[in-house]
Amino acid sequence: MVDSDGNRYVDLTSGFGVAFVGHRHPEVVEAVKRQADRLLHALGDLHPSDVKIKLLEKLCTLAPWPQARAMLSLSGADAVTAALKTAVMATGKTGVVAFEGSYHGLNYGPLAVSGFAKRFREPFVGQLQSDVHFAAWPGADLGVEAALKRLPEDWSRVGAVIVEPVQGRAGVRFPPPGFLEALRRVSNKNGALLIVDEIFTGLGRCGAWWRSVDEGVIPDLICAGKALGGGLPVSACIGREDVMRAWGDPDREAIHTGTFYGDPLGSAAALASIQLIERDELAQKAVDRGKAFAAMLRAEQLASVNEVRQAGMMLGLQLEGSMRALHVSRALLERGYLVLPAGAEADVIQLAPPITVNDEQLEGFVASLRAALGGP
Ligand SMILES: Cc1ncc(COP(=O)(O)O)c(C=O)c1O
Repeated sequence: MVDSDGNRYVDLTSGFGVAFVGHRHPEVVEAVKRQADRLLHALGDLHPSDVKIKLLEKLCTLAPWPQARAMLSLSGADAVTAALKTAVMATGKTGVVAFEGSYHGLNYGPLAVSGFAKRFREPFVGQLQSDVHFAAWPGADLGVEAALKRLPEDWSRVGAVIVEPVQGRAGVRFPPPGFLEALRRVSNKNGALLIVDEIFTGLGRCGAWWRSVDEGVIPDLICAGKALGGGLPVSACIGREDVMRAWGDPDREAIHTGTFYGDPLGSAAALASIQLIERDELAQKAVDRGKAFAAMLRAEQLASVNEVRQAGMMLGLQLEGSMRALHVSRALLERGYLVLPAGAEADVIQLAPPITVNDEQLEGFVASLRAALGGP
């Protein structure tokens, strides 16, 4: 990345996780240019473009169910909104179980189920749907069984459980093994749909198309975004066919839509980016490169890095001391590396490099991190 003053940076955030295939990947750029020469805008749900249909069909082939349907939109928050609404349509129940620390976007629906940082919610609490139970996120000090006990007792109004397979913004927090599976079981038992927010973790980032499926959990609805459009704003809610059927006959008027949803440019970019991930086996590359990057970081034994957490090319460096990640990320910026502070206490450095990052850039980062932490 080059900023407006001409300073050069290695972007280890992929622009909030978007540029998994790299910034301005030539094949994505080419697909967008070709589409721009053909058609910029179609009539969304009423008379969709061919490229939108192709994208929907492609997304359904990536789904973990034999029959699937997908809805397109622009932002991650849009995809979460579609999933929450689908759950209401399919179950008739408006209550939601979400998790402390979760981040699903800041539009009203997603904000209502986002437990991360009070400051995002507080001014708007009066306008947020209140039937949300925030359950505890398990971790080092709270085991799976104890966390399950903190789920609601009364499920009569709960139509959905929404969960990130790895909490990103909360500090790259992994649930202990078995937790997602337990949520699957509890949701089934109580007639609630399991929505997995794969907006950050999906599409190769964590080493598979879907982190949840890779962990052996088949959700009812999957939200995708960020990397999907290869740099353009595209998101999707993909669902099991029988669940999506709750929306009624697709030939009738769509009761959840948006003027620009499934726009031709974004659809072309998304198809190109999916093709790249598939053809170049980028999910597997993320597994290998991520492992090597984590090993390199651990081998440094940096005194103030308590833990290196990693799945594919999603990493979290647990620092000692709250707010530390703010200072460290600034110091890294001055050394030419873009990283994001994460965690409620801003004590985690979140790393989500593009898969195109090279060894030299990663080695340079590790040396700069040592310096930014004030190490020898
Ligand atoms: C897991 C997750 N869900 C949803 C969102 C919201 O996506 P958007 O900012 O595109 O609305 C984000 C964004 O960081 C995210 O990480």
